[in-house]
Parts: sequence; structure tokens; C-alpha cells
Amino acid sequence: MPSLKQLVKPIGRNVRDAMLLCGVGPRLDEDDRRVLEGSIFPHFVDDDACPSVLFVGCHWYTWHYNKVFRGKDYWTLEINPARARYGSKQHVVDSVEHVDRHFEPDALDTVFLLGVIGWGLDDVDLADRAVAGVHEVLRPGGAFVIGWDDVPDHRPFALGAMPSLARFEPWTFPPLGTHEHRCDGDLRHTFNFYRKPE
Ligand SMILES: C[S@@+](CC[C@H](N)C(=O)[O-])C[C@H]1O[C@@H](n2cnc3c(N)ncnc32)[C@H](O)[C@@H]1O
Repeated sequence: MPSLKQLVKPIGRNVRDAMLLCGVGPRLDEDDRRVLEGSIFPHFVDDDACPSVLFVGCHWYTWHYNKVFRGKDYWTLEINPARARYGSKQHVVDSVEHVDRHFEPDALDTVFLLGVIGWGLDDVDLADRAVAGVHEVLRPGGAFVIGWDDVPDHRPFALGAMPSLARFEPWTFPPLGTHEHRCDGDLRHTFNFYRKPE
């Protein structure tokens, strides 16, 4: 016999998702979302040299990114099939270390890998394979943004422990004037900006 919580949870999720679909749903009230949605996304949305975007890791609070990137060739990739509902129409269900199975070499202009390392992608070798795959599918000059939480519970290894990251060059992201931006908040969410060399 299911518990009351088990019965109520899907109802609450469906109500929330219906509200999100109508554009009146909740949003995450965190500094990292303000930085992401207020400073980082607009740069790529306005950049005509960035027609294609891959966003890795989907959740209810990323659903409206479909609208943010509606003028782009917007793709999402997520390991959990149940979260495909929050992805793009162009959605891939797989682990990001297989990203190069789904996109041609040099196919993408920008890849976001936010909140995935330390939230499931915790093995440094798998993460390194993912970074190598992103390098493969990004065009030369393409941008790679990694977001990670700089706290012990969600920092399974240092970014520098992934050898493939050395194939990228740190990129001073113009709107923030730095290649590494740490946000306010308990999770100390940190954005690192890279480019695949030309
Ligand atoms: C904390 S959420 C982050 C959501 C979103 N990327 C964001 O803006 O923060 C982590 C998501 O990454 C997904 N994830 C974890 N490991 C993954 C992997 N190896 N490949 C693809 N997605 C993964 C989880 O299923 C979860 O939906």
C-alpha cells in the first residue's frame, strides 16, 4: 500500500509542471540562477556566432531554458529518462560521457555542463571522458561552460584532475570579466569558462 507521501508527490509534481508549462511556475531563487539567466545566457542568445547549444542535465527549473534558446538549435542531454520531460524537443537520453555518440565532430557552438559533476557524474575517469567528448563535438572556438559546487559534498575531484580539460583554453567571459566566477550561496556554485582552441 503506497504511503500518503508516495500518493501526493506525483500530484504535486504534475501541478508544478502544469504551472511551469503555463509560464507561472516557480523559479529557483539562487544567486547562481540569477548569474546564469541574467548574465551568461543573454551573451549566447545575442551571439549570432552561436547557433547551436547543448545543455546537459535537465530538471524542473531548467525547463524554461527551451524558451530562452528558442531561436537556437537547442539540444538537451540527461541520463535520467524521467527528466526528458524537462528537456528540449531535441533531447538525448544518455550519460554525457557518450556525448560523441550523438553529435558529429565540431557540430556544436556551445556546451553547458552545469551541476552535473558532483551530482551524479562523480567518477573522475567518466568525467574526463565526458570532457574529451565535449571537445570532440564542439567546433574550434566553441564555448564550454562548467558549473560546479565548491563544497565537499559535491566536489568529488578538482576540475584540474581531468586531463582532457587541458585541451581547452580558459576564456575570460566578457560579461563577467573572468574565466571563473563563484556565486554567493551555500553551495558556492562556480562557473568556469573555456574555449576550444581555433
Ligand atoms: C543538480 S541537477 C543539475 C541540472 C542542470 N544542469 C542545472 O542547471 O543545474 C543534476 C542533473 O544531472 C543529471 N546527471 C547526473 N549524471 C549525469 C550524467 N553522467 N550524464 C547526464 N546527466 C547526468 C542528473 O540526472 C540531474 O538531472
